Amino acid sequence: MNAYVGTPTSRVDGRAKVTGAAKYAGEFPADGLVHGFVVEATIPCGRIARLDSTEALKVKGVLDVLTHANRPPLADADEAWKDEVAPEDGSPFRPLYDDSVKFNGQPIALVVAEDWETAKFAATLVRVEYQEAQAFATDLEAERGKAAEVKKPHKPRGDAAAALAGAAARHEADYFIPTEHHNPMELFATTAVWDGDGRLTVYDKTQGVQNVHKFLCGVFDRKPDDVRVVSPYVGGAFGSGLRPQYQVVLATLAALALKRSVRVVLTRQQMYGIGYRPATIERVGLGATSDGTLDAVTHEATAITSRYEDFSRNDAGWADQLYRSPNTRFTHKLVRLDVSTPCDMRAPGAASGVCALECAMDELAVALKLDPIELRLKCYSDRDQSEGLPYTSKQLRECYARGADAFGWSRRSPTPRSMRDGKELVGWGMATGIWEALQMPVAVRIVLTSNGHAEVSCAASDIGTGTYTIVAQVAADALGLPIENISVRLADSTLPQAPVEGGSWMAASSAHAVLAAAEEVRKELLRLAGTMPGSPLAGAELADTVLIDGRIATTSDNSRTVSIADAMRHGNVERIEKEKLNQFDEDKKHARNTHSAVFAEVKVDEQLGVIRVTRMVSAVAAGRILNTKTGRSQIMGSVVWGIGMALHEETVMDPRFGRIMNPNIAEYHIPVNADIQDIDVIFVDEPDAHINALGVKGLGEIGIVGVPAAIANAVYHATGKRIRRFPITLDRLLD
Ligand code: MOS
Repeated sequence: MNAYVGTPTSRVDGRAKVTGAAKYAGEFPADGLVHGFVVEATIPCGRIARLDSTEALKVKGVLDVLTHANRPPLADADEAWKDEVAPEDGSPFRPLYDDSVKFNGQPIALVVAEDWETAKFAATLVRVEYQEAQAFATDLEAERGKAAEVKKPHKPRGDAAAALAGAAARHEADYFIPTEHHNPMELFATTAVWDGDGRLTVYDKTQGVQNVHKFLCGVFDRKPDDVRVVSPYVGGAFGSGLRPQYQVVLATLAALALKRSVRVVLTRQQMYGIGYRPATIERVGLGATSDGTLDAVTHEATAITSRYEDFSRNDAGWADQLYRSPNTRFTHKLVRLDVSTPCDMRAPGAASGVCALECAMDELAVALKLDPIELRLKCYSDRDQSEGLPYTSKQLRECYARGADAFGWSRRSPTPRSMRDGKELVGWGMATGIWEALQMPVAVRIVLTSNGHAEVSCAASDIGTGTYTIVAQVAADALGLPIENISVRLADSTLPQAPVEGGSWMAASSAHAVLAAAEEVRKELLRLAGTMPGSPLAGAELADTVLIDGRIATTSDNSRTVSIADAMRHGNVERIEKEKLNQFDEDKKHARNTHSAVFAEVKVDEQLGVIRVTRMVSAVAAGRILNTKTGRSQIMGSVVWGIGMALHEETVMDPRFGRIMNPNIAEYHIPVNADIQDIDVIFVDEPDAHINALGVKGLGEIGIVGVPAAIANAVYHATGKRIRRFPITLDRLLD
């Protein structure tokens, strides 16, 4: 029955991607297509005093320069601008809305021309005079004193401050995680196709077509049928495409203004003007009894946000899920700066917060002279202490054991600087990872035709995670058809309901929606088959039937079977079309998380401070893995990114101008091939009878959590030097 689920099935869209047949948002053709190029503000805060397009408009091929002064109408109400992922508090950014400048790099005009190069050149001729604000601020550490607590996601337990002060062993420190940018390979792009009568088909790079659809209808006061949003392939987004980004507003605005098709593609530099992982100072305090039992955990995260929206995530609460402690206090503070609003970036909150927590646990293990795994096992929590709930499943112990075994952890010499390889110091470090196992309502439509082919469709995106493939796998198994007979359509706003693809929730959500729709198809087939004269399936119960090898059969007696083709012929139907919205039962009795144990080996050239990550092992417990091949790719990608967080990635702001100094992938360093050596991904068996029918928890984000801490801990083990400011660059190591 499970011919495909759980197997390393290759991507069904792989061929389209490697042959170039897969089209991305900036590649869709349109008759009479013109191109927009964005003009950005060069001050962080103030007003546009004068914007002169005269010279730009003189350039041959330039059609228009759109600004706040001459644009078509945009909605005024905040509600219209609040997409499904927008922060609750605040007023979303509106490009070309008025003369205010809220961040350096803000789009303030769009030059539209016959071709992209002309638009780009003419954009340099737009003259802008500003009225600059008296003062502005873009530096977290300088403004830390102005931080305000914005929410209390976790109830404090006991008296953490007193317990920490009285602890036999104590560790308390600040860890600094800089602003980081997603840098997906595909640039943000929109091709807004003018359909002639005021209707638009908008090809957009997004993680949620229906989110963008609703947003555009609100912002431009359009009826749902007037706008269609399509995004069949996404070349990476990692959270940056959860909210509608400004290029989709600009392309739509220009299409409406000019009544023709417009494409806007951001440059790599302009991509730094949209969301990012906010810089945070994570202050973690751990107090333990002398035998290594935790008595107090405090975690205070101080993160940046914009002046106009409060973006915050759960950085500080993760210890409640991971480690037993009677006294805890978790707080989240925000510092408002003259920058654009941060956004989700792979494992938002956890990637930063758990990084600090897991470095702190390593420091406590050193203070207690305990093996880092032993400390974690002593504090192991079988319950999510915030609500006192058991987990649907939690095989984290097994992750530690399998990961340690694969890594060879038992051969580790605990003393820092005690392991060498020739001239290089060798360090072994580990950390725990945790993420949520979320699931959302999703609807799927299945059209089964009598030739044994099924089209499965849903508005969900595939942001490169493998959604096309797992939808095809689950459908093939549920319909009893070869996977080649399944075609999957995704990411069109006219298809059945789906939320944005994010939070690692789409695998479980889409898979169960496919199952629900397939059950409707099976019900109809059973109805048709059951009424055939002398039917072997007469009186069969739906629950006792399966679709297998092109037939409908009872599970209790597999000689009772009718072929799908015969059943449909009997009923005189060519196609069966069923759509079903799947909602998950609310389970308030369990906590739902995925877990991992991450192990890192680094080699450090002490003279030069060069750190190489030579080996990584990531042992992941995430319930049932629908596709071990795409799943492994997800974890590998996340581990690579974790290496980037540990050693490379940092968005650097010049506080004098409030401007990002390294908005390109030459100076914003990300790992390249030469930085990546051995990555071993282990999926720990984790049956889960509670979470959902298939026992699926979702993957992707769990892969990054813990990785930077494991590497930082390995660097300490190699060198005896504790770096609490990320990324750990050689200057910081030599300092
Ligand atoms: Mo993810 S940061 O929810 O795309």
